Amino acid sequence: MKKLIDEITLQNRISEMACEIDSYYLSQDFYRNTQEPVIIIGVLTGSIFFMADLVRKLSIKTKLDFIRTSVYPGKSTKPKKPKIIWTPNTPLNDANILIVDDILDTGITFKLAKEQLNIDYPSHIKTATLLRKKGKSNSNINCDFVGFDIEDKFVVGYGLDYDGKYRELPYVAIWG
Ligand code: IMP
Ligand code: MG
Repeated sequence: MKKLIDEITLQNRISEMACEIDSYYLSQDFYRNTQEPVIIIGVLTGSIFFMADLVRKLSIKTKLDFIRTSVYPGKSTKPKKPKIIWTPNTPLNDANILIVDDILDTGITFKLAKEQLNIDYPSHIKTATLLRKKGKSNSNINCDFVGFDIEDKFVVGYGLDYDGKYRELPYVAIWG
């Protein structure tokens, strides 16, 4: 496996992203006037390390919850039809939500997650991803906060898996 993004580069960029996210919310009347926590919703399981590092670098108030999708079942690097299989417990009506995922590939996961969360009539939904694959049909999928644009290769580590493995690597590597 070839290392693509090392630990220090990851942490430096996540610190920058936390500043970008803080600046956005601190400039919004809906956050300034209410001081209501932003509900950070991580897409399980891949987002766990990114989410954990990101939220500890944020200054804004947050609450944390999760949504689970199933996209790459078993030994596959090709997306299958995704499903939402776990939804958050936090009340989302009128909430400001930030969905956090490890990687934006086709964009179907963010689309599905947004559709699911919109059922509860939140006030705003924003999205953040650590990685985004370049040159994919995701170019028309808007993501508000992006860590790194990477080439269209299957990657593992820092939460990302192949068949459930390699999530614990502290860096991102090209699989194979
Ligand atoms: P999308 O729905 O096609 O945007 O894919 C997003 C989801 O697919 C991510 O949350 C990951 O779980 C998974 N995924 C996409 N690309 C990769 C990869 O290169 N390695 C590991 N998981 C990936
Ligand atoms: Mg995922």
